[in-house]
Amino acid sequence: MTTAHPNDVHAAWLPPEAFRPVGSRHTLVHGDGTLVETVLGELAEATARHGGTARRTSPTGDPPAGDDRPAPAVPDLVLALTTAGPLPAAVPAELRGPFEAGTAGPLGAEGFALARRDGVTMVLAERPAGLLYGLFHLVRLGESAFGADLPVERHRPAMRRRMVDHWDNVDVHPVMGQVERGYAGGSIFWRAGEARGDLARVRAYGRLLAACGVNAVAVNNVNVHATEAHLLTDRLGDVAAIADVLRPYGIRVHLSVNFASPVALGGLSTADPLDGDVREWWAKVTRQVYETIPDFGGYLVKADSEGQPGPFAYGRDHADGANLLADALTPFGGVVHWRCFVYNHRQDWRDRSTDRARAAYDHFAPLDGRFRDNVILQVKHGPIDFQPREPVSPVLAAMPRTRLAVEFQATQEYTGQQRHVCYLGPYWSEVLGFAPWGAGRPTVAAVAAGVGEDGLDGGLVAVSNVGDDAYWTGHPLAQANLYAFGRLAWAPELDPVAILDEWIDLTFVPSATGDPERLRRTLHELMDDSWRTYERYTAPLGVGFMVRPADHYGPDVDGYEYTPWGTYHFADRDGVGVDRTRATGTGFTGQYPPPWSDRYESLADCPDELLLFFHHVPYGHVLRGGSTVIQHIYDTHFAGAERVAELRRSWAEIATAGLVDPALHDRVTERLDEQLRSAEEWRDQINTYFFRKSGVPDAHGRPIHP
Ligand code: GCU
Repeated sequence: MTTAHPNDVHAAWLPPEAFRPVGSRHTLVHGDGTLVETVLGELAEATARHGGTARRTSPTGDPPAGDDRPAPAVPDLVLALTTAGPLPAAVPAELRGPFEAGTAGPLGAEGFALARRDGVTMVLAERPAGLLYGLFHLVRLGESAFGADLPVERHRPAMRRRMVDHWDNVDVHPVMGQVERGYAGGSIFWRAGEARGDLARVRAYGRLLAACGVNAVAVNNVNVHATEAHLLTDRLGDVAAIADVLRPYGIRVHLSVNFASPVALGGLSTADPLDGDVREWWAKVTRQVYETIPDFGGYLVKADSEGQPGPFAYGRDHADGANLLADALTPFGGVVHWRCFVYNHRQDWRDRSTDRARAAYDHFAPLDGRFRDNVILQVKHGPIDFQPREPVSPVLAAMPRTRLAVEFQATQEYTGQQRHVCYLGPYWSEVLGFAPWGAGRPTVAAVAAGVGEDGLDGGLVAVSNVGDDAYWTGHPLAQANLYAFGRLAWAPELDPVAILDEWIDLTFVPSATGDPERLRRTLHELMDDSWRTYERYTAPLGVGFMVRPADHYGPDVDGYEYTPWGTYHFADRDGVGVDRTRATGTGFTGQYPPPWSDRYESLADCPDELLLFFHHVPYGHVLRGGSTVIQHIYDTHFAGAERVAELRRSWAEIATAGLVDPALHDRVTERLDEQLRSAEEWRDQINTYFFRKSGVPDAHGRPIHP
């Protein structure tokens, strides 16, 4: 199998140079299966380039096979499956002992153990996927995997399902384009109604995903339009072709389906989930899917949401709808990801009692316990819609008898659209570490991973930020978001800055960089705090949605204020914010368990950064941080835009030092220019807006356009 990376696309976190430490070693691979072949293919390519050797043990012993370059009797690296018979003789006794005694503990379907003793590094796995993840772990470790002895370390993913959802359309949508909310060019799967057939790129993508830990991909938009609906039936072959190239990287393919498919595709008169013919239709179609793609992952559904069809049309609820598909998938081990992004998008802005933030909980919490075991409710991490700052969705603490997946948005719809640097690792890490029931109790990561031994797990999902752009993600630095997502889904406790370090050292390999320390410093300066910087110059204190309607880029403070979308800030001459308290507001705070139901309810205890999400306050209200709301707005907006100007200067200096490829440098420069323009626009519109509303001048007399 060829692993060659296509020439027309950036190598991202897998440049050939990152394979030097592994590729210059003598490696023995013990085991077989598709994913073991992938490991061998990777090693063959890396060793051919960097001078090592890769050999496979035969079923009966150690004799090498493969290329005819001499391989030493004792390898530097052994990758072995425990299920492939006795460990090869080359493994030193000191390494054998702990492994054979099972000290490494159960490794599961994807885990691996790693150790180094007497000059031999060993990766052991029970299943082939573990060897593949072990190989990429070695690449991350670089030379440090081949230095001093390493004690046995065990690695298992926290989440069983680590999924990327593409909002890719097959046909170009007249409003949303080829990729809905896509900021990296066209789709890597589809172009103008057809499968692109560029499977080399899809394969390279699968490699990148496997190397950061992702194991599932949904290949089409959750808004399933007419052409896309056919992927389930007569165009299934297009999906199978993608599945074929992702399979060697341990990635399963999932499909977004239209709930009304029995009518649209099957010619039935109804899609009622309790109708016998409808149930039979889904069973038949699903059987055909598995005949074509035996390891198919399952269906992803957006139902009764923003115009998508669903069970409500037949007087049924979400459990009826999800269970219909779950039953069809059960015989084959597939799952339904049923999204909880359901709300009334035809609200009346005059009606202060309806609250979009309440919707997911109101719809789903009462259904806890009614979903089949293979239904995963997919919950956006915040109650509104991927705003740069939102509290954690209360649904995640309300359904103990249901599998829950947390959905993040790697595509930067509301976080700068891959024109602004916005490293989301810290945000996601904060969400995953949030403890809805209070300190010492399970976190959001634990809910997604399954609380307790037999806990119901749902996993983690990210909406993809990838397109057919040469850098994959438009903004080259946005690659780090995809990388960080995969790493956090594998190990949610990882420090996002440490993840960034990994990404930097893989992408800009230190041995091939003139001054790696300086480059690393500059990238950290640009990226570590970039989410908070973005927050500073956009909508203040968690109020959200001051973006331009429709395309969601750039400021428009009142753009959504009188629309039906339920995203309001309620600024007037006296104050701003949404009263979501139980005492005087929409009651949303009551959807949280204690202690958060009380902390959010209390004006004194509510965290500053979420104040305007939960409370309507006067401009003179003093934050816990000591500043008034109005002064905080001015200060953060001046500081945020100024910070972008500084970062642009730092990046320019890197060019003079020649530390990164000029084309990549130019791309980032062009984006930073736009980020600065946009940040200044945000600063001026927000500051002017609030100055005009409140009449309160800036305490420091800085220029605000009156
Ligand atoms: C946002 C986004 C839509 C998308 C929706 C969803 O509202 O703007 O384009 O379809 O989320 O998550 O389904």
